[in-house]
Amino acid sequence: MRLLTYLFLALILSTTIQAQEKTSLIPKVMTMETQEGFFTINSDTKVISNTDALPIANLLTENFGLDQTFDPNIENLISFQNAPFFENEAYSISITEERVIIKAGSGAGHFYAFQTLLQLITADQKLPLSYIEDKPRLAYRGLMLDVSRHFMPKEFVKKLIDVMAFYKLNTLHWHLTDDQGWRIEIKQYPKLTEVGSVRSESMIGHYSDEKYDGKPYGGFYTQDDIKEIVAYAETKFVTIIPEIEMPGHAVAALSSYPELGCSGGPYKVRSEWGVATDVFCPYEETFTFLENVLSEVMALFPSKYIHIGGDECPKDSWKASEFCQNLIKEKDLGDEHGLQSYFITRIDEFVSSKGKKIIGWDEILEGGLSPNATVMSWRGVAGGIEAAKQGHDVIMTPNSHLYLDYYQGNPDSEPLAIGGFLPLDKTYSFDPIPSELTEEEGKFIVGVQGNLWTEYVTTTEQAEYMYFPRALAVAEVGWTTDRTKNYSNFAERVQSQFKNLKKFNINYSQSMYSITMDLLSGEKGKVKVALNSPIPSAEIRFNTDGTAPTLTSPVYTNKGIEISKNAEIKARLFQDDEPLGHVFSQSIIINKITGSDYKSEFKPTKYKGGSSNALTNGIKGSVNRLEEWVGINGENLNVVFELDGKTKFSKISLSFLHAPSSWIMLPKSVTISGSKDGINYQKLGEFSIDQELNPESRLENVSLKIKGKKLKKLKIEATNFGPLPANHPGKGSPSWLFVDEIEVE
Ligand code: ACM
Repeated sequence: MRLLTYLFLALILSTTIQAQEKTSLIPKVMTMETQEGFFTINSDTKVISNTDALPIANLLTENFGLDQTFDPNIENLISFQNAPFFENEAYSISITEERVIIKAGSGAGHFYAFQTLLQLITADQKLPLSYIEDKPRLAYRGLMLDVSRHFMPKEFVKKLIDVMAFYKLNTLHWHLTDDQGWRIEIKQYPKLTEVGSVRSESMIGHYSDEKYDGKPYGGFYTQDDIKEIVAYAETKFVTIIPEIEMPGHAVAALSSYPELGCSGGPYKVRSEWGVATDVFCPYEETFTFLENVLSEVMALFPSKYIHIGGDECPKDSWKASEFCQNLIKEKDLGDEHGLQSYFITRIDEFVSSKGKKIIGWDEILEGGLSPNATVMSWRGVAGGIEAAKQGHDVIMTPNSHLYLDYYQGNPDSEPLAIGGFLPLDKTYSFDPIPSELTEEEGKFIVGVQGNLWTEYVTTTEQAEYMYFPRALAVAEVGWTTDRTKNYSNFAERVQSQFKNLKKFNINYSQSMYSITMDLLSGEKGKVKVALNSPIPSAEIRFNTDGTAPTLTSPVYTNKGIEISKNAEIKARLFQDDEPLGHVFSQSIIINKITGSDYKSEFKPTKYKGGSSNALTNGIKGSVNRLEEWVGINGENLNVVFELDGKTKFSKISLSFLHAPSSWIMLPKSVTISGSKDGINYQKLGEFSIDQELNPESRLENVSLKIKGKKLKKLKIEATNFGPLPANHPGKGSPSWLFVDEIEVE
């Protein structure tokens, strides 16, 4: 009997999963059973609703040009019904040929049922006969938008809310203040926007380039703008949580009211990204200021949560301040960390006294925390685990999976981003409830959120590109209880959702179609490479002569591609004869030692150059991609090749990377030696290299012509630059030596 029950359950479960895998629903619903056939919405279809559902019924009638009715007994009816025992946001939908019946216990539940219908409906307005039960795994499913580094107009915020709601994301965390701009009007402190919303210029390019555009930059929301957006979000069941940063990330506020900083200023709204050492000073006047600001903010935002930042607060200015040192003694706070805890606790008490709750970044755990506070875990999940164990509510936003400002594809073919590598499948793989937690502790994980910091996101188009489609992975991770994750099925559903993103006019990224390459093998003078398709149902077509692949180019098979002369591989995915995504491109240079083994004496580091024999794999390091290089830390380069003693060589070349801001220096000297008998070496050439701390990244090529030498051994040595010099931020630390592709012709 037990066995039969299990079999029966397994059968239901598998039909549920199969039924869904045929749809393109994101997020996946909890259970769905389907039958052959359809309910069709036509001009005679009527809608009936209860009061909770009335605004949603109105959306439905407007969307499809339908009339409402009071008669529950007619056919061709869509009926919203009240189900008071359903949890908040939960709903069911029953679709028969005669009727669609939606049940929910809240407006949010009816709204999400409507979103599910919008995703299920076909172009000819057909809904598949089915029964759906659905509710979210986590109560908080969010996106964060940083508008301090780059201001995003009101219309964009509304558009983002529209798309979030379509995917059942219910929280927008709005990062409104930071060192680079204060973006919310505060009536009692007009200088916050008069002064604090404008910076004199902005950083452009890579952080390490240290370049600025010379153009003033500003923008802010009036309180009327805020009210308009908050009211709009309410109609989409999206809660907006404002973030007012403290005690760090406060330079825009200090520039407006310098008396709130320990040194008294003057301060300047920052043009540079990164972390500033000037922070709020814990004077009584500062608390009065922050309480007044928060009072205006709390009046604008109905959210029960107010985010108060709390991350990245350097203690330099508190260490140097007599006032702070006296306060630490007077209140017996121990040190500056105790002072940070005192700061956050005071603000927490104030916010709590107004019936609201604070959220802070995971640094607020340091030095003790009041039980009311919710922790946003961003430095991985460790802070979230610690907070949940202490009994705090947690929202998971780890940079390892949910920092949507990181690259989502190969940086060579992506717009400039802050760094990192977070392709769609990585975000999708995130499990918000870590296995380290017991079931009881796991209940403290109340949410997940994808964060978009905008240092490198200068336009709304680019913001869309970074959010989408990764925000769909965040939505499914937060909503769907079924965790039998299958990325290839998710990827297919994402592909189907692109048509909906197009309807929303979203500039989504197609980086999920990025092809990757692996080196399968190498032997003297040739290599074999494999191309990997991220979409199993699509085929790869490729050329090796540098021309872009078309439908008539060869289809890649899993046998690999053998390359025995210089080649430029270009490859692209095709599905149903349509090209997808970007063209993949990789040059492979072949010389007499390509694919050869060698012996080296330095310790391997995390920079391994991507494959074995990285120095002879045919792929040259480039300026933008550190992972293509062999990185040596503090040691010299020393590699020896065994050769056949018969082949004649005429030229030896290799490259080094110069990137002082990443602590990568050129070698002081390079020596190339050869051995005819395999025992005694003769010096073939020696180079010394001069270098400056010019921050520009560049390649240094070293090349030596030799006259038709036959060698049994070839040795290449390079002397590490040594400790970083006094005028470098890392002075005294070992420098890196980055070398790649040793070519012998
Ligand atoms: C953060 O990324 N500093 C929260």
